[in-house]
Amino acid sequence: RIERIGREPDYSRYMDLKEGWLDRRIFSDADIYEEELYRIFARSWLFVAHESQIPSSGDFLTTHMGEDAVIVARQPDGSIRVMLNSCPHRGNKVCFADAGNTRRFVCNYHGWAFDTAGDLKGMHEEYCYDAGDIDFKNHGLKNVAKVGNYKGLVFATFNSDAPSLEAWLGDFRWYLDMILDNEEGGTEFIGGCIKSVISANWKFGVENFIGDAYHAGWTHDSGARSMNNGQPFPPIDMQNSYHASMNGHGWEFGTEGVGDLVLLGRPKVMDYYNKIRPKMAERLGEMRSKIFGSVASASIFPNVSFLPGISTFRQWQPKGPMQFELKTWVIVNKAMPDDIKEEVTKGVMQTFGPGGTFEMDDGENWENCTTVNRGVVTRHERLHYRCGIGREIEHDTLPGIVYRGQYNDANQRGFYQRWLDMMTHDEFGKMPARPEPRLGNVAETRDLPGLFAL
Ligand code: FES
Repeated sequence: RIERIGREPDYSRYMDLKEGWLDRRIFSDADIYEEELYRIFARSWLFVAHESQIPSSGDFLTTHMGEDAVIVARQPDGSIRVMLNSCPHRGNKVCFADAGNTRRFVCNYHGWAFDTAGDLKGMHEEYCYDAGDIDFKNHGLKNVAKVGNYKGLVFATFNSDAPSLEAWLGDFRWYLDMILDNEEGGTEFIGGCIKSVISANWKFGVENFIGDAYHAGWTHDSGARSMNNGQPFPPIDMQNSYHASMNGHGWEFGTEGVGDLVLLGRPKVMDYYNKIRPKMAERLGEMRSKIFGSVASASIFPNVSFLPGISTFRQWQPKGPMQFELKTWVIVNKAMPDDIKEEVTKGVMQTFGPGGTFEMDDGENWENCTTVNRGVVTRHERLHYRCGIGREIEHDTLPGIVYRGQYNDANQRGFYQRWLDMMTHDEFGKMPARPEPRLGNVAETRDLPGLFAL
């Protein structure tokens, strides 16, 4: 029996989120990964920078959108452009630096030179081209379709049909404002970017931060005790804690307590937040001022996560089905005194930098999950995502799809529902052109002894 020859694979076979299970193949299959690049990364709004990283005209940084290398550059008029970091001549990178300030990006190979908007401005031995050989206007660095900025976070998309960034974030902005707008002056990234490579599927990082409070008290128990005078994580209050998700983004949190800040082992930081909490309550309301201080974590679909309070901000950059590059920054309120910013930075390094206590715990788990799930027999066994499946509630204040109890798989199910929607439906916008299939796609073969599918 051969299923669906010559058509798109039916991704709904890979999960049933109402029943609460996932197929393990989504964490290692090369074809599914390739489709993620087309259907998700080429059509989503993707985080590319914090505006504080490129404050002045000519400032730039390099990053990736999916696996596409891009340059993010501040323009003389203050706007931000995002363009492919690939020369239209033979495709070489035109910028190898992580960040800097420049007037031109000059390609190493034959010396084509581009301004910070990506326009081709000149080249080595320009006389070698005859009239009509090259149209400068059409040989710049390809700019992305749209760039947006939400309270300092800069996003870009290749998708000209994408909704506005505000619509993409939707009600998640209510939650995002807790980290981006809890004090006058907004936020900034400080101290550069830390990169590490983890041999795991990118989705494991996102789903861990979007709602896996469950692992913290077990995986991180010894780390938590080492930083908290031998005390374990505080117990979760299942009545006053929640999962909230919308458009695949999610935030898990309590509404009582200041657990994250205690666990930092940095009392000066906790004192600072407690000092500004009354103003935060005036600015954002009582509920959000309490949520901000709770044990919490969050992810923005598809591949950004952060910990409010601990102040690590990170992106899971896909590098193949079984590898991602983790980029980590420290996000702080601009108005913080310098000594508090330094304390926050030390706290991030101690917990969620590559040498941080908690990071090492997590990385090992994700690498093992990815590798073990790939076993030829193992990959056909379903994974369990049913925790709290019946605990959805209506809440007077909290927007989004809200579930009671921080030990829950609700946000993970919300993330994978968005994943499935984007992998299945065309309404999310145009995808880049793909090569024609040579013999059609064979999604799956079964029960065919002696018959080979090509
Ligand atoms: Fe860039 Fe030739 S590849 S100038």
